[in-house]
Amino acid sequence: MSNNSVRNTSAITVTNLNKTVVTQEGELTILNGINIEVKQGDSIAILGPSGSGKSTLLGLLAALDTPTSGEIVLDGVALSGLNEEQKAALRKQKVSFIFQSFMLVDTLTALENVMLPAELAGVTDAKQKAQAMLERVGLSHRLNHLPKQLSGGEQQRVAIARAFICEPKVLFADEPTGNLDSVNGDKIADMLFALNQESDTTLVLVTHDLHLAQRCARQLVMESGHLSEPAAEDGQHNSTSEAQLVEAN
Ligand SMILES: Nc1ncnc2c1ncn2[C@@H]1O[C@H](COP(=O)(O)OP(=O)(O)OP(=O)(O)O)[C@@H](O)[C@H]1O
Ligand SMILES: [Mg+2]
Repeated sequence: MSNNSVRNTSAITVTNLNKTVVTQEGELTILNGINIEVKQGDSIAILGPSGSGKSTLLGLLAALDTPTSGEIVLDGVALSGLNEEQKAALRKQKVSFIFQSFMLVDTLTALENVMLPAELAGVTDAKQKAQAMLERVGLSHRLNHLPKQLSGGEQQRVAIARAFICEPKVLFADEPTGNLDSVNGDKIADMLFALNQESDTTLVLVTHDLHLAQRCARQLVMESGHLSEPAAEDGQHNSTSEAQLVEAN
C-alpha cells in the first residue's frame, strides 16, 4: 500500500478519555477529557512536565491499562469491547512499546530479550533478526549480557531493538532517548523515523528531548491531565516552534 492510500486511515482515535484512581488522599484525576486522532503513518511527540499524565496516556493507548471512561479505537478496534485476553492478542499483533523503565526480562540475555517477541510471533530466523537489530543499536559486543550487566543506555537500546523486531503497526515509546548520549540518541531517532518512513509505522513518543520532538510531524502538550496541540490551535500547519516546546517542557 502506498503512503497516500494509508494516510487517511485512523491508527488511534481517542474520545473523551478519563482516568481516575483512588488514593489514600481520595480520588485523583490523572487524565481529564482527552481527545486525539492519529493517522496511520503519523509521528506524534507528547511533551509536558513530570507527573502530568504522559505515561498513563501511553499505557491506555497501547491497551496496557483500562480507562475510567471514554473510548480508544486502535487500528479500527474499540478497546472497550475487548477482554484482557483479546487485548493481549491485539497488542501482540499490532503494537510495540518501549517502556520508560525498559521492562527487560532479568533472566534473559540481551539477545534472548530481543528474540522473544519474534519467537512468540513464530518468526523462524528470530536469532539472526535479533542479532542484526542489536547490531543496528550498537550492541553486537553485548549479546550475551544480562540486563543487570548492562548500563542504563545499553538496556534502553536493547528495549528499542526488542520493540523494532516485529515491525509494529504502532510504536509507543516512553522517553526512548532519556538515558542516551547525543550520538546514540540521534542514532535511535534515525531508526525510529526510518521505521516510520519505510514500514509506515505510526510513532507515538513521550519525550523531554526537544530535538526528537521537533522531528515528529505533530507535537502535543500534556498539562495536568489535559492534552493540547499548540500548533493546531495557532492555525499553523508547520510544527510547534522551539519556544513553545521549551515552555511546554
Ligand atoms: N496507579 C496510580 N495510583 C495513584 N497515582 C498514580 C497512579 N498512576 C499514576 N499516578 C499519578 O498520576 C500522575 C501522572 O503519572 P504519569 O506516570 O502518567 O506521569 P508522567 O507525565 O509520565 O511523568 P514523568 O515525566 O515523570 O514520567 C503522577 O502524579 C502519578 O503519581
Ligand atoms: Mg512518564
